[in-house]
Amino acid sequence: MRIGVLGTGMVGKTIATKLVALDHEVMMGSRTADSETASEWVASAGAGASQGTFEDAAAFGELVFNCTSGTGSLEALEMAGAEHLARKTLVDVANPLDFSHGMPPSLVVSNTDSLGEQIQRAFPDARVVKALNTVNHEVMVDPEKVPGEHDVFVCGNDETATAEVVELLRSFGWAVENIVDLGDISAARGTEAYLLLWLRLRGAFQTGHLNIKVLR
Ligand SMILES: NC(=O)c1ccc[n+]([C@@H]2O[C@H](COP(=O)([O-])OP(=O)(O)OC[C@H]3O[C@@H](n4cnc5c(N)ncnc54)[C@H](OP(=O)(O)O)[C@@H]3O)[C@@H](O)[C@H]2O)c1
Repeated sequence: MRIGVLGTGMVGKTIATKLVALDHEVMMGSRTADSETASEWVASAGAGASQGTFEDAAAFGELVFNCTSGTGSLEALEMAGAEHLARKTLVDVANPLDFSHGMPPSLVVSNTDSLGEQIQRAFPDARVVKALNTVNHEVMVDPEKVPGEHDVFVCGNDETATAEVVELLRSFGWAVENIVDLGDISAARGTEAYLLLWLRLRGAFQTGHLNIKVLR
């Protein structure tokens, strides 16, 4: 598959690397076409890896990942262009965290709204699926980094798009019984707000290689 990964940070690089290893063609997008970080990634990832602007990467992808800073995501997606996101599955991995007032960060949107919903409203023709935002980037593509059974969440308004993302997550190593479908995109209110707890758990256990399992 041709996949556009918007974002040159740890998450973009980790997801893009995994996708190339799974034989997908991946273009990493940035605000600039010649991003140094993206160039380094292309050089290390080998065949199947390329770089461009957010617009180039979104146009390239049959499916697009949003791995940009939560406070810059709407801007990044505007740069990508609504026409390049229309009818495509847009996997939103971003968290709306504001670090400008120090640690711990706060949420710039919460409770009655979420970044996932803001993105879906701004790009009504895209099929937004919130996923993977509740785990560390290394765990996203290698769930065995956390021992035992643990869960990852997906939500979105389009069932076909959600099913497509579930298949991708399975290819990343997630067992289907550990992929919890929470329903429509408004469930992102919960998975994004969970970051407030996740950050405290990381502090308490001094590792990002942690996750939760829903027992019932
Ligand atoms: N780190 C984790 O383990 C983890 C886990 C779960 C979810 N997340 C979420 O995943 C996302 C990516 O995290 P990250 O740590 O890899 O990278 P990040 O530093 O949060 O974001 C880097 C990307 O955001 C773009 N960006 C920043 N400000 C922008 C703006 N104002 N307008 C447009 N684009 C902007 C950058 O563009 P340039 O390439 O042009 O610099 C870059 O591509 C975040 O939303 C984060 O909350 C992270």
